[in-house]
Amino acid sequence: MQGRARVPGDKSISHRALILAALTVGETTISGLLEGEDVLHTAEAMRALGARVERTGDHAWRVHGVGVGGFAQPAGLLDFGNSGTGVRLAIGAVAGASVTVTFDGDASLRSRPMQRVLDPLEKMGVRVIHVADGGRLPLTLRGAADPIPIVYETPVASAQLKSAVLLAGLAAPGETTVIETEATRDHTERLLKHFGAKVSSKPYGEHGRRIILQGQPELEPASVLVPADPSSAAFPLVAALIMPGSELIIDAVMTNPLRTGLLTTLREMGASIEALEKRDDGGEEIADLRVRASALKGVDVPAERAPSMIDEYPILAVAAAFAEGPTRMRGLKELRVKESDRLTATADMLRANGVTAEIEGDDLIVQGKGRPAGGGEVKTHMDHRIAMAALVMGLGADNPVRVDDSGFIATSFPGFVELMRAVGADLT
Ligand code: S3P
Repeated sequence: MQGRARVPGDKSISHRALILAALTVGETTISGLLEGEDVLHTAEAMRALGARVERTGDHAWRVHGVGVGGFAQPAGLLDFGNSGTGVRLAIGAVAGASVTVTFDGDASLRSRPMQRVLDPLEKMGVRVIHVADGGRLPLTLRGAADPIPIVYETPVASAQLKSAVLLAGLAAPGETTVIETEATRDHTERLLKHFGAKVSSKPYGEHGRRIILQGQPELEPASVLVPADPSSAAFPLVAALIMPGSELIIDAVMTNPLRTGLLTTLREMGASIEALEKRDDGGEEIADLRVRASALKGVDVPAERAPSMIDEYPILAVAAAFAEGPTRMRGLKELRVKESDRLTATADMLRANGVTAEIEGDDLIVQGKGRPAGGGEVKTHMDHRIAMAALVMGLGADNPVRVDDSGFIATSFPGFVELMRAVGADLT
């Protein structure tokens, strides 16, 4: 792997930029938007709720919002495809408008828990008209005309859950407070401030935060620059680490400290990753990452690091398979409710390619032996990150790795195959 690459815009920020722009009266411009299927579903949903959402150029978008509480009754159901972030954030945004909305998604999204979002929103006055068994999609809710501000401690470390409550709190009078005992990505808070809302965030306990939002702000139109997604950068980055002789620069990657658990872990494993030209862009820290092929060793990854690298475990597990010695990744319960049961899917991906991997409780243990045999066919279970992690494993393994379905890669990383090939990967 040689040269320079720029991965697409951050998925989390892209969803939030569209939703907050739709809640603002006036025109917001967004550049660098991730044009992956997940985000396109959110764009379509904001249109259906009455915002004007237009693509004005390459990754450049313009949104005319309707204001907090101003959503229109959509004509049909809102389909979020594969996207948990899109649907959970949109549920929060709709919670403060007098509309009745049905939310749905694909088979993967229909299997994921939504009750965690409905619980606080019902306290705020949302009426759940229908929800599928087990608190799943499809679900229909009636937003609250006068939402009630609440103080809510999230029972799971989830930025989506935190964000849903904060977005609902925009329409409520007074202060909405979210307490998280483990801090999660803070893009919603940062963007809310960028659009003129009053949000404060203070440390809470050892690893947590207490976030307070003043409701009913006049959100002001803003321009948003979406930085490159560190969760997408993770794939070419690990590919360069495990392929002998590689030296790759990945440009302008967001290095928000609540997203950099993978970099911390890989460095502990012995990875050569330098952050060059550190700078601020669009309210987020970014840097060019220079990665060189490295001899890796197994490590113990603490549970409290999970929120800062929650999407990176499949690709970390691949790095661990190329390391010497065992890697134990602790506290991965939430992985069971991602686009697939990612804990099982990751272990199965490794085993199909000659790597010893065990699940003990909520921990994943990978026995690294330098270089896996490969040669397996990996079931991706409608999960983009399992597909990309498996393909990266195949690049460095003794034998090529095949995935049963590469279609879902386009949900988060359109152009993955082309980008990887351009820097030297052999992918067909
Ligand atoms: C995201 C939060 C995480 C992450 C997801 C994006 C977000 O989910 O897995 O890909 O943008 O808020 P949880 O909040 O459910 O942990």
